Order: sequence, then structure tokens, then C-alpha cells
Amino acid sequence: MERDGMGQDKMGCSLVEKDTVEQDRTERYEARLEDVAFSYGGKQVLQNLSLMVRPGEHIGIVGGSGCGKSTLLKLLAGLYEPDSGSVEVMGQRTSGDIRKQVALVMQQNALFPLSIRDNITCGHQVPEATLWEACRGASLADWIKGLPQGLDTHVGQRGGQVSGGQAQRIQIARALCKDAPVILLDEPVSALDRDTGLSVLAALGRLTAGRTVVHVTHHPEALDDGYAIYRLEGGRLLRG
Ligand SMILES: Nc1ncnc2c1ncn2[C@@H]1O[C@H](COP(=O)(O)OP(=O)(O)OP(=O)(O)O)[C@@H](O)[C@H]1O
Ligand SMILES: [Mg+2]
Repeated sequence: MERDGMGQDKMGCSLVEKDTVEQDRTERYEARLEDVAFSYGGKQVLQNLSLMVRPGEHIGIVGGSGCGKSTLLKLLAGLYEPDSGSVEVMGQRTSGDIRKQVALVMQQNALFPLSIRDNITCGHQVPEATLWEACRGASLADWIKGLPQGLDTHVGQRGGQVSGGQAQRIQIARALCKDAPVILLDEPVSALDRDTGLSVLAALGRLTAGRTVVHVTHHPEALDDGYAIYRLEGGRLLRG
């Protein structure tokens, strides 16, 4: 049967097929937290927390220090499991499968005591061209080319031999290389001076374009108009 681009046959009948409907149901949200509770030991941090993120949607999360923003991102990244409620990312529900779907740029320096290359590839085989594309996207290429050891330069314990801005951009290059559909950002420019912050923000713009994003920040005014802002307060998310 012939169809036009709107899913109609030539008789004007709707041609929404069963499997399309099923697909819509599962793909409506790329990230979903439902009625989640989480505590560290006996300390309850999140409760009755729900969040639905549609494909390509950009969500900004604000809230006071210690209210649980990083914890929420770690749940979405599959690093923690909730005490109750459910976490689903790209249709995946187990933490191992969720981790494959997300790239997380963490608040603290999250580098391994290895080379820049290993920090970007996480030990995976990545074609050299892809690696350099990620470095250019993260505004790292010129700096790396100027290093005597280039990509094989060791970043030191806890990234002690690179600056805070370089460490953040290495995390962004890692995320670009991973090419994950869901990007989680935890105050990625909070510790940086203005110029470095601007260069990291430009790199983030390249990373987030066309992807689903949850971005924790203390500066929602720095996010573009496309972001829907939520406030985390008392363990719950409120639309800002
Ligand atoms: N590994 C941990 N063990 C025990 N308590 C923790 C742990 N990590 C965080 N917490 C506590 O849980 C609460 C939420 O921490 P979280 O790091 O999620 O806050 P946050 O909103 O990201 O804060 P900030 O804006 O300062 O980054 C805080 O009270 C914190 O002290
Ligand atoms: Mg935090």
C-alpha cells in the first residue's frame, strides 16, 4: 500500500500501526525517575521524586548545596540504585545497561590516574580520527598537540597535573567519544575562571546539541532558553 509522508494511505486512512504505537509508548521518555526514594545509610536524601525527560529535551536542575542534585544524577547514570521507585533510561532498567546509555560530566575532577588518551577512551578501542574529533569538540586539541607526550601525557593522581578547566574538557571529550544519547552534567563550569568557563561552555554546546540533557547548575541564567528549569527541594523536584 502506498503511503505519503504523514503516515496516511492514498485513501486518507490513518496508518498508525501497532508496532509504531508500542514504540511511541516506550520512546516517549528517554530518562524517567518514578517515585524514587534514596538514602545514604539512614539519611534520606530523595523521596517521592519523579522526572520524565523527553527525547532531545534539556532540563536544568537547581537547588541548595547538599539537597541531592549530584545524587539524582548518579541515579540517572546508573551509579546508584534507588531504595524504592524506578529509574529507566532509553528503556533500560538495570544499572549496567543504564550506564551504557549516558555520559556523565561530574562535578568533581573525575579523571583516572592514566594518560589523557585513556581518560578519553576509558580503555575502549577508538579510531584516532574519532579521538581527535572529540578533542577538537572539547577545545583540547591545540593544548594536547603542544604537549611533548601528546595524548600519552599522564594526568597525575586525581588529575593533579592538569588544570581544572582541562580536566573538565577531558571529561567532555570522553562524553563526545562515547556518543551517548543522554548527557548528564553536574555543575561543569562551577570551579572555572570566566574565560575557561566560556570555552568549556562552548564545548558543552557541541556535546549537548540534539541530545537529551539533564544539567545541574547554580547558575540557571547561564543556560539557554531551551532549558526547562526544576528546583530540587525537600527531596522532591518542583517546576522552577
Ligand atoms: N557518599 C555519601 N555518603 C553519605 N552521605 C552523602 C554521600 N554523598 C552525599 N551525601 C550527603 O547527601 C546529601 C546530598 O548530597 P549531594 O552531593 O547529592 O548534594 P548536592 O545537591 O549535589 O550538593 P552541592 O550543590 O554542594 O554539590 C548531602 O547532605 C551530602 O552530605
Ligand atoms: Mg553536587
